Amino acid sequence: MGKKIRKVVFPVGGLGTRFLPATKSMPKEMLPVVDKPLIHYAFEEACAAGIEQFIFVTGRNKHPINDHFDHVYELQKVLSSRNKQKELGLTSDWLPPAGNVSFVRQQEPMGLGHAVWCARHLVGDEPFAVILADDMVLAKKPCMQQMTEAYGKVPGSNLLAVMDIPKKDTGSYGIIDMDKSGSKSGKLVKAKGLVEKPAPEKAPSTLSIIGRYILQPDIFKILDKQKPGAGGEIQLTDAINQMVSSKDVYGYRFDGVRYDCGGLVGFVAANVAYALERKEIKGAVMDELKQVFKRSGAKA
Ligand code: UTP
Repeated sequence: MGKKIRKVVFPVGGLGTRFLPATKSMPKEMLPVVDKPLIHYAFEEACAAGIEQFIFVTGRNKHPINDHFDHVYELQKVLSSRNKQKELGLTSDWLPPAGNVSFVRQQEPMGLGHAVWCARHLVGDEPFAVILADDMVLAKKPCMQQMTEAYGKVPGSNLLAVMDIPKKDTGSYGIIDMDKSGSKSGKLVKAKGLVEKPAPEKAPSTLSIIGRYILQPDIFKILDKQKPGAGGEIQLTDAINQMVSSKDVYGYRFDGVRYDCGGLVGFVAANVAYALERKEIKGAVMDELKQVFKRSGAKA
């Protein structure tokens, strides 16, 4: 039997250079989509999947993330004295119980694999989830919840959220080499290998890994010895690839739309998409967008 997924790792130690100057003194993961920081959406997604322990791998200049998951007494006192109950709730109603949030330091941003490795002592010997806050998935059922449910069908394996991408884009993603004999019901796809950022002519498929993982703790032993790969960083994809021979690795075709909020275009698109999900502002946002398109001469 596979163990329940109780812990999630949020790697938030990166530099966010694509968002400079916004990220000069503010973590990328605190950029808001509409009115919530990226990391807050990731946290809510983990909660929806029944996860109870939240491990943040942070770096320098990431203090606003720690503060976000704490009380903010001065503001709360003012809101309380003004009887602003709704706003008060927004600051703290969602806080996890004391002791369920941990922070560990990645002193140098040496890559996603290295960031996950930094969480090894806090994760211990059990399967765990990884959510990259800058990958947003807009879905009826939150993506990590879909994954924990799918994990029930393949307990003890590694599960990676995947989506089909255009062939020309394979050089920007980790790509799955599919084991056709092992693919299950279309949603679960058994992998016989993974390749980080292959050129289109070398890509084994167009099934790309996005920032949602359920991993076995065996990954840490591999990451212990992992050498830098593409881009001089310690790649999580390379380490998972090394596990394929000893533990099953599945791609999971999730339901939903993924927004790459690690880049400018995806981030802007996510703001529009998530705003249109909000009934109280949808109409006004659509009116504004129509005006914006008209003024810019663009055809929607
Ligand atoms: P990205 O590569 O998208 O983030 O990593 P980045 O390096 O911060 O961004 P750019 O390319 O400079 O603009 C995906 C996630 O992994 C974390 C990031 O914080 C982000 O949430 N990460 C990345 C780490 O925690 N440590 C690292 O060494 C690298």
